[in-house]
Amino acid sequence: MSGWRALGYNVMPVSADREAAVDTDINHWGTLMLQDLQPLPVDPILGLAAACRADPNPNKVDLTVGIYMDDRGICPVFEAVKQAQRALETEEVTKAYLPAAGDENFNLGIQRLTLGEASAALAEDRVSSIQTPGGCGALRIGAEIVHAAAPGARVWLSDPTWPVHIPLLGSVGLEFQAYRYYDSETHGVNFDGMVQDLKKAVVGDIVLLQACCHNPCGADLSLSQWAVIADMAEQQGFTPFVDFAYQGFGEGLEQDAAGLRLLVARLPEVIIAASCSKNLGLYRERTGATIFVCRDPANARAVMSQAQAAARRIYSMPPAHGALLAGRILTNDYLGGIWRAELEVMCQRINGLRSTLREALEVRCGGDYSFIEREKGMFSFLGLSAGQAQRLRQDYGVYMLDSSRINVAGVNTRNIDYLADSVSKVL
Ligand SMILES: Cc1ncc(COP(=O)(O)O)c(C=O)c1O
Repeated sequence: MSGWRALGYNVMPVSADREAAVDTDINHWGTLMLQDLQPLPVDPILGLAAACRADPNPNKVDLTVGIYMDDRGICPVFEAVKQAQRALETEEVTKAYLPAAGDENFNLGIQRLTLGEASAALAEDRVSSIQTPGGCGALRIGAEIVHAAAPGARVWLSDPTWPVHIPLLGSVGLEFQAYRYYDSETHGVNFDGMVQDLKKAVVGDIVLLQACCHNPCGADLSLSQWAVIADMAEQQGFTPFVDFAYQGFGEGLEQDAAGLRLLVARLPEVIIAASCSKNLGLYRERTGATIFVCRDPANARAVMSQAQAAARRIYSMPPAHGALLAGRILTNDYLGGIWRAELEVMCQRINGLRSTLREALEVRCGGDYSFIEREKGMFSFLGLSAGQAQRLRQDYGVYMLDSSRINVAGVNTRNIDYLADSVSKVL
């Protein structure tokens, strides 16, 4: 037990008093532990997706959950993933646990993909990463490390942000502060407001940023705006925590990483939560990584030991299958080439859909929908009221969040006219 105490856990030996109490309490089933727990409301996004699945309307349109869907409305398996899977099946000799840090190939591949082959931080060996269960796991491990380093740290979140950021980071015990981000009048980033708010971020604070394809609004920072954030971090001493869930879905793998790489080139410390759910289509395989860019190699190793201990206390070892596939693809020129080409097709399709949707809405509804074309990635707010979004669901079977956030990739050649017509009817 003294070993646990050294780690900060208090495990008490059983006392004679306690044994007596256990003896007399044993038949008190009036005090069951779980019986008073009440059901919680369903997750708003997953709940809507479930309602859409249950809707018998043959014309229904699902624009709720953030998964990529092709023109058939299917979330496809990448050809590169299928090939990696076949190779893995023949070569795999064990299902023994991965090390707590995860697959070495995967860690190497994801660091290079995220930071770039020519990254100075990588060359200086001051980067470490831990394979995590998806981007959510990466956010959570990052939050654990922030909490270990600075238990009172405040996390600055964009307004709006992906709602799951709050439980993922908040359950560790971190406090939040919102900064202005999306301007619903201009449908763009309210950069002046963001800068004004972030002027209050100080040493020991974390600023959570999305590297590209902002969820939920689709409005991203320009490179010159990233440079301003880097200046502010340098001057004020806050630490950027960059959520990178959509690399390759905005403009391309390299372009989407440009803002993040600018931060890494300028700052001694950056935390990154990377996800392979979208850009490798590995959603259910739960594949991601927390990447720590640190002051020096020794610090990178120390942070890594903390990350492994954090993983150990939550889930121990990461799931293997997705990372073994991603590791193969990211470190193999042949498979990597197939994957990059497939991802490029997806990216172009999303951007093409943005133009087509803009046109369809402008023709049917009038008004200016050019913002849809300017935004990046899968998400956009259509600018409807909650009442209008609800009428779209009830009267037309068109499912989007009450905020009118849509998943653009849910639009296809069969539903686009119906979608635009339905929107025009509720306006
Ligand atoms: C902004 C953002 N961050 C992180 C994630 C985490 O993704 P996953 O845990 O599925 O890899 C998502 C998924 O939708 C997301 O939208």
